[in-house]
Amino acid sequence: MATLKRIAMSSAPKILVFDSGLGGLTVHAELVKARPDASFIYAADDSAFPIGEWPGRQLTVRMAGVMAALIAATTPDIVVIACNTASTLALPVFRAAHPQTPFVGTVPAIKPAALASRSKLISVLATPGTVARDYTQSLIREFAGDCSVNLVGSARLASLAEDQLKGGMPDDAAIAQEIMPCFIDDHGRRTDHVVLACTHYPLLGETLERLSPWRVDWVDPAPAIARRADHLLTEQGFPRHRHSDHHKIETGQALFSSGAAPNPALARALAKRHLEFAVWSGPPLDSCTEGRDAAQ
Ligand code: DGL
Repeated sequence: MATLKRIAMSSAPKILVFDSGLGGLTVHAELVKARPDASFIYAADDSAFPIGEWPGRQLTVRMAGVMAALIAATTPDIVVIACNTASTLALPVFRAAHPQTPFVGTVPAIKPAALASRSKLISVLATPGTVARDYTQSLIREFAGDCSVNLVGSARLASLAEDQLKGGMPDDAAIAQEIMPCFIDDHGRRTDHVVLACTHYPLLGETLERLSPWRVDWVDPAPAIARRADHLLTEQGFPRHRHSDHHKIETGQALFSSGAAPNPALARALAKRHLEFAVWSGPPLDSCTEGRDAAQ
């Protein structure tokens, strides 16, 4: 019987990683570990960034248009939506519009946090959009019935993370202000897990730990997303990477909807991650979508 699986025994997969900005680099890093043989295109809709406070309808329309342009131009074997704000809203829309393309989304890692928590007091740190989504509420109902879940929406933390990656000094006071509501002490019962439900936040790495009033586990879903993408690629016929194989990691392309070239600090950060800035040569990525002004 004919099979839809692609015959790709010797070719490497092409992976499109998408985010509103630079947060998806935290997922990209795990994907490179899982699939060092792949070619990567990292696409950021940075002219929309930050998207955490965009109204849902406008954001869906914009992301659908940007995604269609990216898929047409890059013909990926798989798309990884390395963004909770977009995934919790628009993943079904992407899948319906591109039925031949497998998508892996990023959604708040509430299940593993609830399972691992001993105090049963967990926080979910995310953009205001992700915190407000029905999808997030359904994850809480389904997987965290035995926990108190504290939802913390931050409008600023993604931008603070980007500033740091672009060479700025960590703004400790501003970061501390954003993360403090995650820490609850209820008569000695304390928050012990904080779900990083925005892909930008792991970029702040040790700054988060340094500014925490007590030690918590910060739950980053990136390794699980990479495992899922790896699994789907294997199902498609791309042989799984064996760690005894030594692949030279190909330099991938980093595309930005604004077309703005990265500053030297960001260019170095991209190079460290095997990416280089590429000028987008297609039609403006946001040309067929409602713009930022319409969203406000
Ligand atoms: N990195 C994105 C996420 O995971 C959102 C960042 C933003 O544009 O606010 O939700």
